[in-house]
Amino acid sequence: MSSLKFFMIFVFLLSLSSSLFTFTIEAKPNYLNHFCSNNTFTGNSTYQTNLNLVLSSLASNSNGSDGFSNATAGQDPNRVYGLFQCRSDLNTTTCQDCVVYASTEVTQRCPTQKGNIIWYDECLVHYSDSYIFSTVTTSPSFSLFNTEDATEPVRFHGIVLGLMNVSTTLAANNTKRYATRQGNYSTSQTIYTLQQCTQDLSSDDCSRCLEQAIANLPNGKIGGRRLFPSCYSMYELYDFYTHNKTASPPPTLSPPSPVTRPTGKKRITSSIIIAIVAPITVSAVLFVAGYCFLTRRARKKYNSLPGKIAGNDISTIESLQFDFGTIQAATNDFSTDNKLGEGGFGVVYKGVLPNGQEIAVKRLSRRSGQGAEEFKNEVELVAKLQHRNLVRLLGFCLEGQEKILAYEFVPNKSLDYFLFDPEKQGQLDWSTRCKIIRGIARGILYLHEDSRLRIIHRDLKVSNVLLDGDMNPKISDFGMARIFGVDQTQANTNRIMGTYGYMSPEYAMHGQFSVKSDVYSFGVLVLEIISGKKNSSFIETDGANDLLSYAWKQWSDGTPMQLLDSNLVDSHSRNEVNRYIQVGLLCVQDNAAARPTMATVVLMLNSYFITLPLPQQPTFFLGKKTELNMQSTECTDSDPSTSMSMPFSVDDASITEVYPR
Ligand SMILES: *[C@@H]1O[C@H](CO)[C@@H](O)[C@H](O)[C@H]1NC(C)=O
Ligand SMILES: *[C@@H]1O[C@H](CO)[C@@H](O)[C@H](O)[C@H]1NC(C)=O
Ligand SMILES: *[C@@H]1O[C@H](CO)[C@@H](O)[C@H](O)[C@H]1NC(C)=O
Ligand SMILES: *[C@@H]1O[C@H](CO)[C@@H](O)[C@H](O)[C@H]1NC(C)=O
Ligand SMILES: *[C@@H]1O[C@H](CO)[C@@H](O)[C@H](O)[C@H]1NC(C)=O
Ligand SMILES: *[C@@H]1O[C@H](CO)[C@@H](O)[C@H](O)[C@H]1NC(C)=O
Ligand SMILES: *[C@@H]1O[C@H](CO)[C@@H](O)[C@H](O)[C@H]1NC(C)=O
Ligand SMILES: *[C@@H]1O[C@H](CO)[C@@H](O)[C@H](O)[C@H]1NC(C)=O
Ligand SMILES: *[C@@H]1O[C@H](CO)[C@@H](O)[C@H](O)[C@H]1NC(C)=O
Repeated sequence: MSSLKFFMIFVFLLSLSSSLFTFTIEAKPNYLNHFCSNNTFTGNSTYQTNLNLVLSSLASNSNGSDGFSNATAGQDPNRVYGLFQCRSDLNTTTCQDCVVYASTEVTQRCPTQKGNIIWYDECLVHYSDSYIFSTVTTSPSFSLFNTEDATEPVRFHGIVLGLMNVSTTLAANNTKRYATRQGNYSTSQTIYTLQQCTQDLSSDDCSRCLEQAIANLPNGKIGGRRLFPSCYSMYELYDFYTHNKTASPPPTLSPPSPVTRPTGKKRITSSIIIAIVAPITVSAVLFVAGYCFLTRRARKKYNSLPGKIAGNDISTIESLQFDFGTIQAATNDFSTDNKLGEGGFGVVYKGVLPNGQEIAVKRLSRRSGQGAEEFKNEVELVAKLQHRNLVRLLGFCLEGQEKILAYEFVPNKSLDYFLFDPEKQGQLDWSTRCKIIRGIARGILYLHEDSRLRIIHRDLKVSNVLLDGDMNPKISDFGMARIFGVDQTQANTNRIMGTYGYMSPEYAMHGQFSVKSDVYSFGVLVLEIISGKKNSSFIETDGANDLLSYAWKQWSDGTPMQLLDSNLVDSHSRNEVNRYIQVGLLCVQDNAAARPTMATVVLMLNSYFITLPLPQQPTFFLGKKTELNMQSTECTDSDPSTSMSMPFSVDDASITEVYPR
């Protein structure tokens, strides 16, 4: 009974989230940051039920609200308090879209934590098991700033403080607890400020909160923000909010003015970096650490669907653009000491930005199939994919023939560094391996279904899974097909990008890819993680030539523990091991249609109440003994022109990308 209920809730949430992404195609708010508390609840608890009530009530209140609403559900100790606040210059549609999106995303980012907060440009959603209404809450908090210094930092900051001082009084007295100001910095530059409190605060509380925000604003940078759960202050050198219609005409009616948008050589390239100022009760510090914050104009917040980014907004693109000098300096002029690895796409270097942020820089060696504009557009789209199990793409650099991608730096090495090294295998105990498998599954699910771009990774493999300091997996190299101009929607391609050992039969033989080819690669990954053995260089064992056949044999013989990596020392239940192997085998079935989707896989890995189907025996293996002909193979080898007919005898190690170390 209880398991059924849990399952129903799960299915409901899944269907809710998928219907949300299907129907609200216009609305993806611009994510800024989130914090999860460290007290947790369990899956089928009353707390979960109350939380769902609060979130759905907030989402429905956001239609026709005044930009703010609060809700409570349940009785102590399972009582849940929740609120949202939209930025007061935005219309109801925008507000509702943001709140609906946020209510789903926050539970994905903080699935079992009791009290969490998520900020977007457009709204914030905050809930807790303790009373949060009409109370000034200034923790957790964070700052964002543009890395660019103002030309006269002291005078600049003085003007900002002056504007904020006036605007604090205005906001505190305004019923929406919101105020904006603008002031001249130079003849051609105007400083714009915006302040907002949650509307449940009293006038005095709002004023107190904003004073704290102002006191902690970044100093002397050309853009900065300080955000608390109860209020925020922000300023930019460009016009980023909607003007009060009675005070000035709506900006959409007038062409962009050169006053607010420096043009030509004076255009400012802004790569903006997050600074985490006070990470209190954070469960996702690492996830947040690499985040760069993108300046956007208000009307550019909602992006059109992929492929429809025409007439792109230059200021948006530039916010992702690093200049070549910065990258050169960060990587010590691409010094070999900074080299992290090398793969088919290019060499990867470690870099450190002037503000101390570490990045991984991939200098693309291959000619991409598209021009600068398309490249920028694709990078911009891929950079929007943000998930705790994906390596974040921070931006790019274009200079002459140089194309460079800048990524979040992930401290631990890639999964293969641990998994296939006899000395280090032991560091991955069973529960860590399960966590890694589940994390990879969530990352792929996001790529496939939740991100709206419907990215097919096409090159999932252990070396493309990086591990952060807590051994959380982060998938890298996604979206490369887009960046290289391979049409994602095309179901058939002669440019094959995968890696031997992970390619599904239909992909390897016919160049057909779909989300199910990623599912296949995921299945191989699962079996490799469980066994600690490489599929591509499997040594014949018990009459099985490859890992998949071996896994099938052990599983069907009822001896799943035989497959387990012998270095595993911690305890693990036979049922759980059996289940994970079965999920792996379901994913590597020859028939793509028989493989589960990633949504089902995530469900199977997380719920023990679901009976798994029985897999068919995998018969296909792209191993040493198979020989295939391909028209053109753009695998990870460096020169596509040489690989016309390729016997699959290449050892995985020689073609594996080792990015980023
Ligand atoms: C959160 O973690 C900190 C230290 O890890 C601990 O002191 C604090 O009590 C925890 N808070 C909750 C609400 O569990
Ligand atoms: C799950 O729900 C059942 C009743 O529906 C209850 O008996 C059980 O204690 C709950 N488990 C948890 C962990 O809350
Ligand atoms: C919002 O409310 C209006 C009427 O108040 C209704 O017509 C509209 O369908 C609602 N929209 C959504 C998405 O619920
Ligand atoms: C909203 O917050 C106020 C206090 O600011 C409180 O009195 C009211 O009960 C809350 N409403 C709900 C629905 O929780
Ligand atoms: C609300 O604002 C968004 C973005 O500014 C705009 O695209 C949309 O048309 C507006 N909707 C309404 C109903 O005014
Ligand atoms: C504004 O400036 C005045 C004079 O310097 C100061 O007394 C006041 O506290 C400031 N107000 C705020 C909200 O910072
Ligand atoms: C509200 O405005 C008045 C002046 O118009 C000002 O004296 C007062 O300090 C303001 N209130 C707050 C809380 O800032
Ligand atoms: C800012 O500059 C504009 C044009 O240079 C001028 O009209 C305006 O009065 C100035 N505003 C302030 C507050 O000085
Ligand atoms: C917009 O302007 C009107 C009239 O000047 C004023 O009453 C209203 O409070 C302003 N709204 C905001 C959000 O500043």
